[in-house]
Formats: sequence, structure tokens, C-alpha cells
Amino acid sequence: MRKPPAVLHVVVVATFAACLASHGNSGATGRQSGAGKPVERRIEAILGQLTLDEKLDLIGGVDAFYIRPVPRLNLPRLKMADGPFGVRNPGQATAYGAGIALAASWNPALAERMGVELGRDARARGVHFLLAPGVNIYRAPMNGRNFEYFGEDPLLAARIAVPYIKGVQSQGVSATVKHFFGNNSEFDRHHTDAVIDERALREIYFPAFEAAVTDAHVGAIMTSYNLVNGVHASQNGKYNTDLVKKEWGFDGLIISDWASVYDGVGAASGGLDVEMPSGAYMNRQTLLPAIKDGRVSAAAIDDKVRRILRVAARFGWLDREQLDLSIPALNPQGGAVALEAARQAMVLLKNDGRLLPLDKRALKTVAVIGPLAYPAAPVGAGSAGVQPYRAVSTLEGLVEALGPAVTVLHQRGLPSLSEWADRTNFTTDAGGATPGVSVETFNSLDLSGVPLATRVDAHINATGPFVPLPPATGTGRTGASSARWTGFFTPAAGGSHRLFVHDYRGEGGCRAFVDASLVLDNWDVSKAMLSQVSLTLTPQPHKVVLECFRRRMPGSTAVYVRLGIVPEGALVEPEARAVAARADVVVAALGFDNQTEGESGDRTFALPIGQDLLVRELAAANRRTIVTVTSGGGVDMAGWIDRVPAVIMTWFAGEQGGRALGQLLVGDANFSGRLPITIERTWQDNPNHDSYYPAKGTTRVPYTNGIFVGYRGFEQNGTQPLFPFGFGLSYTEFAYSNLAVTPTAGAKGPAYEVAFDVKNIGLRAGDDVPQLYVAPGKSSVPRPPKELKGFSKVSLGPGETKRVTIGLDARSFSYWDVTSQQWKADAGDYEILIGPSSATTTLRSRVTVK
Ligand code: BGC
Repeated sequence: MRKPPAVLHVVVVATFAACLASHGNSGATGRQSGAGKPVERRIEAILGQLTLDEKLDLIGGVDAFYIRPVPRLNLPRLKMADGPFGVRNPGQATAYGAGIALAASWNPALAERMGVELGRDARARGVHFLLAPGVNIYRAPMNGRNFEYFGEDPLLAARIAVPYIKGVQSQGVSATVKHFFGNNSEFDRHHTDAVIDERALREIYFPAFEAAVTDAHVGAIMTSYNLVNGVHASQNGKYNTDLVKKEWGFDGLIISDWASVYDGVGAASGGLDVEMPSGAYMNRQTLLPAIKDGRVSAAAIDDKVRRILRVAARFGWLDREQLDLSIPALNPQGGAVALEAARQAMVLLKNDGRLLPLDKRALKTVAVIGPLAYPAAPVGAGSAGVQPYRAVSTLEGLVEALGPAVTVLHQRGLPSLSEWADRTNFTTDAGGATPGVSVETFNSLDLSGVPLATRVDAHINATGPFVPLPPATGTGRTGASSARWTGFFTPAAGGSHRLFVHDYRGEGGCRAFVDASLVLDNWDVSKAMLSQVSLTLTPQPHKVVLECFRRRMPGSTAVYVRLGIVPEGALVEPEARAVAARADVVVAALGFDNQTEGESGDRTFALPIGQDLLVRELAAANRRTIVTVTSGGGVDMAGWIDRVPAVIMTWFAGEQGGRALGQLLVGDANFSGRLPITIERTWQDNPNHDSYYPAKGTTRVPYTNGIFVGYRGFEQNGTQPLFPFGFGLSYTEFAYSNLAVTPTAGAKGPAYEVAFDVKNIGLRAGDDVPQLYVAPGKSSVPRPPKELKGFSKVSLGPGETKRVTIGLDARSFSYWDVTSQQWKADAGDYEILIGPSSATTTLRSRVTVK
């Protein structure tokens, strides 16, 4: 493993081109040799021996995660496994912090170390392709897959993705950057059409993919489920072929996401090389006639096979076993990186009166309360849901860090969703006589037709499929189903109630009616896996109807539909208040887990049901209440942020999250994470607010705010966020001085070296992340007020000073000019701004671009 060099002079190069030049051309991370080189001759020799049938078999996956072998030519079966922060399948593996957590470290060297360990974990399992990293841009807190991605800024995402990929690939494993492209939400992901203008694509949504190709030389790219500008990503030749393969020079393979091909001929001629998990569309049956009548060329098929062979040759798979039994499956080296990554990821947002770090010698009792206290929530749900061998929860981490002299009390504070659903009693009749809820199921998407079956359930707490499963096909189980629950709910007393619906990974939608009024609507757009609404109910029977549909037929029992109704006053368990009042300090462990945030559905901006009340009650019982938030992005803090002295974003921090948090809370480690996103006060404040959901009756989501995403949009609109992009506190303080901006000698186009001193002016050691933003003066096109163009993570002992140097190149000043189809820096003045976040400028200088 490579250690970061212990230098006093920190040099950061912000350019794509410079990074490309700096990492050389050899080995698994180097540029592919061109035509005529030995490797290409080898590929041609193999290609020449393959029959057309064999070629067509190679471009459709098999057994869910493999590319077929060709034993007579010694072509091995190529195995794929999910990342992005642990080798998910099959079995257990080290769970590193999620993508958003890694981005929050602002530490490219750490990303590379994590990549190396992921590569080793893959080799220990014989995996050829790691299906990672995910680099889609954060637009809204609701996207269920935000936790997998690297935040809202393209430069930060690229700067984390590139070393991550190089790390993975240094181990002889191909990374697979995903999901290309426009996958910025999870509702209705097979049908959503992201309508994105060219500048936004080039400036915001593409740079991390571009850097993965041109700088990290990634081996594979995975397309996304959605459409972009009217065409499914898996067959979008304008981008897959013209942009990625031709303009960026990508020589690896483009694979589909699992069951995201919708047209075999379209995909084959739209730049897709391999359909996964099987050749349901790109197969002999579809493609042989298409080749015969010229709709698909034989040369296009050869190109796909060449790409598979090229990656196989490049990573050594044709010459050695991929399984490396010298690497332990439970990898202690990886565990150490997971702990370091979790420590560097957590962001201290608030620390009034320096409540933190806790002085454990002065504490007798600490209470850890909340649904995220125990068990650990290392990752969100879905394909990124790696199962660690073990995971340290917040409770366990605190007990470990505080030591035996401190008593740590634990309360969940809120019942689970399943418990609430089971406590919500219905009767099938309006008179309240017969317990139960009637269920009708249908073989249609809209409850039409004769019910397939009717039954009475005790509660609305159902798992598994609605209707009997049809046999699985190559694309999984397709088909439509829907269900309706009807029952009468009689509150024990009149007053405020919360009704929630938990529709977990059903890929469909639900809506709830109370007394014939639609109270919760996730039907046309399934906005969240878990939704809640406040209702005032009288103590009479109320007719409750829940209707849900599923577009696919998930065979797994790990899909739920639940509905619960809870009196507002009974949400928080009274023991939680009592325990909070007894303790010297309370840690309120809030947020989402793998039943409320993850793939194949969005989440709410609001915290899951009851958590807002819980934190307010804890804060009322104990002024020393520290909030920790587990999530893939921002949450609604408006109801409690002013009532608590300390708040920490822990993200999904991986298997070592609890341990890292414990160490940080007691000051055994210092906070150094910075926000890779902006946290808004209200969802309405987010610049993407009006361009996140499709217009009623359509599946089109026009990204109308273009390049003004995240802090670019907040600043353009003059909206103050709750916490700005780049922000994070430390137990020490830093000062910046002596800014010098020097033109880079001999550079083509504008290029500068920006140098300044960073001093630790506090009493503890700490890591800082000074950030460089460029603010254009007058411009011929609309531009964000400023944009991140460089940063550095610097470790400083108390009183220590280091000089940081950040390089800027032409791209640092440029926008994508749609007329000339190239990057362009307008002549004029640009400000160079240095600060600890996007909201604070400490040093500034001006350069004039000619
Ligand atoms: C996800 C991909 C994942 C694949 C294989 C899909 O549902 O979108 O990110 O790699 O499954 O598990």
C-alpha cells in the first residue's frame, strides 16, 4: 500500500490533462496500446478464431454476474461484483464508508487506498469487474442512491473517482464507472427521461465520467436505467459512441445496468458492448437477422468483442487466475482503511459552546438514543448493500471510546415501522366489530379486472409479491400486479395522528385514502419508500384504503408494504425522555437505514417518522444533546437545529462508523470532513426544486436550472443554505495567508500556480481542507458566481504552517461553448478565492486572461 509522502510542501494539480500526463503509460492503469501493438495483435488473433455465434454469446451476460467463457480459446468466465464500497456479492466483505462519505473526506489519497483495498477484496473473491464507482451528481436530498455517489460538485467527484479507480485497477481488477448518465433520482428509474442541456452535461454531469476515462483509464462503464433527452442510456449512440468512445478515446467496454436494455438492435448499434445480466435482447435471435439485413454491422459486433478481449488482456486475465488466495477475505488492512475513511468522512456541522470533544473523565452517564444507535447502519439498501462480517454501531463505538468508567445507557426511542404497523388495528366493518383488513390483489397495474384473490390480514404489514410469481425470464420477472387494502381504523382518542406508508423497494407506487380523501399520494411518482402525513382524527371509525402497484415481480421477501397510524403524542417512547434527563450528555442517533434509503426508490427530505419529535423531546429533557445524522445527503433540520448544540453528519460510514464516531466525540481523533453537498434550510430553497419531479402525466424531467446545481445555484439565486458546500468544523482552527498567484511558464492557454500558507492556530493537531474557487468577471454566457477548481487536505500539528500549491489550467477558467463545441475561457478578469468553504473567502487575488 502506498503511504502519502511526508512533505511540508503540498502540491495539488487541479487539471485533468496534468493528471493524465503524471501517471504514466504502463501496467494496468496505463493507456491501452494502439493498433498494431502486441496486445492488439493478440486480440485480433483471438477474434479471428471466434464464430459469429460465439461473439454474440459473449456480448450477453450469463448467471447474473458473468461474461461467458470460451474454453477452447482459454477465454475465462469473467466475474462481476458490486461495489461501490465493498464487494457485495457473493457473501460478506469489508464495508467501507459510502461514496458520499468518501467524498466528504476530500482526500484523493484516501480514495486511492480504499480503491486498492477494494481491488484486493475483489481478487480474494476472483472478481474481474468491480461494478463501481458511482459518480452521478447530487441534485436533491431525495435521490435514493445519493449515498453511493460523490456529491454535488463535478471537480470533487472527479478528484475522488480517479484515484479510487486507479487503486482498484492497480490490483488487476477493472473498475466500472456508473451510471452513465443522468441517473440523479431513483423514482420510476426505467422510464424517467432526464432532459439535460449540453452545457449542463459537459460542465456538471460528465466531468467525473470524463476523468474516469481520460485520466484513470477505467476499464468499463455501466449505463443507467433512465432515458436522457428521449433515448435510453443503454442505446444512446450520440453519447456512448460519439462522445465516450470517439471523443474521449475510451477503449474499454460499455455494459448495461441490470435489465436496462429495451431494444437489442438499438443497443447493439447505440454503443452498448455487453448486456447484463443476460443477453435478453442482445442475443443470436435478435442480432443474426439484424446483421443479415444490415441493421447492425458485423464490424460493430467485432468491436464489442475486441473491447472485452482488450480489457481481459490488459488486466492480465488471459494469463493468470483472478482468484488470489494470498489475500484474506476478512482483510485487516481493509478494515484499517475503513476506519480511517469513516474518521475522515464525518462532518461536524455545529459545536456550540465547544460541547465537543467530550471530556470522558468528567462524565458519569451518557445516553445513546434513537433508531440509528443500534444496530449499525453501515450502508444503504440495494446493490451497494454489502454485508460486512461485523459492523460497529454508534452505541458500541461510544461504549468503546468512553471506557468502563462511563455508564452508557441505550434507548431506541421509537418503535420500528413493523411494530407500528402491527400495533395499528383495523376492522373489516364500519361498526368496528370484526378485526382485520380486507386485501384484494390484481394482475394489473391499476387494480383493474376481477381480483385474483381476496383475503383478510390482521394488519397492513405485508412482505413478498402481491400475486403468484410467473416463471423468471432473462430480464427477471416482468409483469404487473396491484393490491388494495380496506379497513376501518378507530383511534383510542381524537387528535393529531401520523399516518405512514412504507413501500420498500417494490418498484411501483402506493396511495392512501382516509374517509375517501387522498391523504398520501405516491402513485404517479413514487416519491419515497417511506412517507408520512399528519391527520386530525375523531374517535370514530375511519375508512382507510391503501392501493399499491408493482411494475416488476420481485421474488424476494425483502419487499414490504406497511401502513401505520400513530397518535402524535405516542410516537416517542416515554423511557427515552427519562433516560435523556438522567444523562450528562445525550447522543441522538437519527437518520435513515437500509429499509428507508437506498436503490430503487427515493426518500423524503424529512427524517423518518417520529425522529423530528424525538430530537425535540430529547433536547427539551437535556440541553447537552448531540445529534448524529446517518444519510446519503441533507435532511430537514429546520424543526430542531436551533434547539441542539451539536450536529454531526455521519453519512453511511461503513462497518467502522460507530468506532470512528466514538473516537471523534471524545477527541481521540479530530473532525476533518467537509460537506460535499449544500444542505438547504427547506427543500424549496434547493435550486433544483422545480426540476426534480416530472410534470404531471409525463415521465420527462427537464433539468431547467442547467448548470446552476448545488452551491452554483444557491449563489446564483442569492439563497442562504443552512450549511454551505465545503463546510465542516474542527477541534482546532486554521488561518490562511501569503497568497501568491504565478503564471505557469510555457503553458498553453491560461495557467497559474496558486500558493498560500495554512497555519494551525489552535492547540490540537488537525486536518484542514482549504478550497480554491474561481469567480469569472464579465462573461458572454451565464456562469455560476464561482466554481471549485482545486483543494488540498493538509495535516497540521498545533502551531504548524504548510505552504499549499494548487495548479490551475485553461479548463479551470472555461465553460463549454456550444457554438464552437469546445471549452472556452473568455478574455477578462477572474478572481481566485481561497477559503474554508464555498461561503467564506479568506484570501483573494485577480488574474486577467488574455
Ligand atoms: C444497479 C447497479 C448494480 C447492478 C448489479 C443494478 O440494480 O443499478 O448499480 O451494479 O444492479 O447488482
